[in-house]
Amino acid sequence: MSNKKAPADTCVLVTGGAGFIGSHTVVDLLESGYQVVVVDDLSNASEKVLDRIDQIVGDEASERLSFVRADVCDRDALEAVFDEFPIDAVIHFAGFKAVGESVAKPVEYYSNNLGSTLTLVDAMRAHGCKSIIFSSSATVYGDPDELPLTEASPKKPATNPYGWTKWMVEQILMDVAKADPEWDVVLLRYFNPIGAHPSGLMGEDPKGIPNNLLPYVAQVAVGRRDAVHVFGDDYDTPDGTGVRDYIHVMDLARGHVAALGWMAGRTGCEVFNLGTGKGTSVLEIIHAFSAACGRELPYVIEPRRAGDVTANWADCTKARELMGWEATRGIADMCRDSWNWQSNNPNGYEG
Ligand code: UFG
Repeated sequence: MSNKKAPADTCVLVTGGAGFIGSHTVVDLLESGYQVVVVDDLSNASEKVLDRIDQIVGDEASERLSFVRADVCDRDALEAVFDEFPIDAVIHFAGFKAVGESVAKPVEYYSNNLGSTLTLVDAMRAHGCKSIIFSSSATVYGDPDELPLTEASPKKPATNPYGWTKWMVEQILMDVAKADPEWDVVLLRYFNPIGAHPSGLMGEDPKGIPNNLLPYVAQVAVGRRDAVHVFGDDYDTPDGTGVRDYIHVMDLARGHVAALGWMAGRTGCEVFNLGTGKGTSVLEIIHAFSAACGRELPYVIEPRRAGDVTANWADCTKARELMGWEATRGIADMCRDSWNWQSNNPNGYEG
């Protein structure tokens, strides 16, 4: 934002605000005093999330939340949003995010993820709003040469269309900031977000068979699936299984609020890693979740999954030094909150 305003006077547009990371960020924004407008087409989210947000934040804060059901690719719908609300900054989460599906449907992924961003950026500049935070991913680092990954680590070619869309949207936004010095762009590279709101009212609710480890483990724990499939135990890691930097979604949400406060009054483009700095293996996750749910979860070893990297974890020094942000929750907290969500909502929001 070109100038610093109090949260109560700052209106934040959150695209994809009904999704997993978006909804947790909306709660943190409301609890931090911001005015929030969510734009979500609910293609991969439930409208029930909005009731849960209201329940968590209470009446006073939920009055500061507006919801518009729309696709971010719909320029007319975006125009109407910018006409109705005095948007100061945008947090752009909306996008397709399934790696495997992106390989099967590249046209849909490029069209949606790039098209929505271009439409959004064009609507923003037409309305004089030039502050954006983008949901990027550690996927842009590819298979790392060195760990931990810093923001200066090289971007590598992506291994799937989903990864390329993150890579390309980063490039588009960097070029936008370069072309017009009034823009204020923050690219947040997430490591592996897991966990849930500690109330058990919000969490991850993937449609169909989960692609990611944690929702799969949680569904095994609740009896919806038989056993965890461990993709490879012959990696060059301490126990042979893949290592990732898992971050609690509450810490990740806080990272967006920290970025919003930090960017106010600045211009340019900055990149931040959001992780914990610690790597955890697949087997360590299964054991931690077993401890959280109180029974040993069954697992079977399978071949490696194509496209997976051996290990990655973040160096988050930059976010700490510049934005004063640091993850505070560990794997036990993440598994406890994820189990609390899953056991209270065995079938997710529709349960
Ligand atoms: N894994 C299993 N069994 C499963 C699912 C995953 O063993 O059922 C393993 C994977 O092989 C990997 C680890 O668990 O070692 C984590 O896998 P996830 O699918 O949960 O997460 P990824 O690290 O593969 O995915 C993350 C982000 C994506 C991003 C991707 C890029 O969630 O958005 O990194 O590699 F595209």
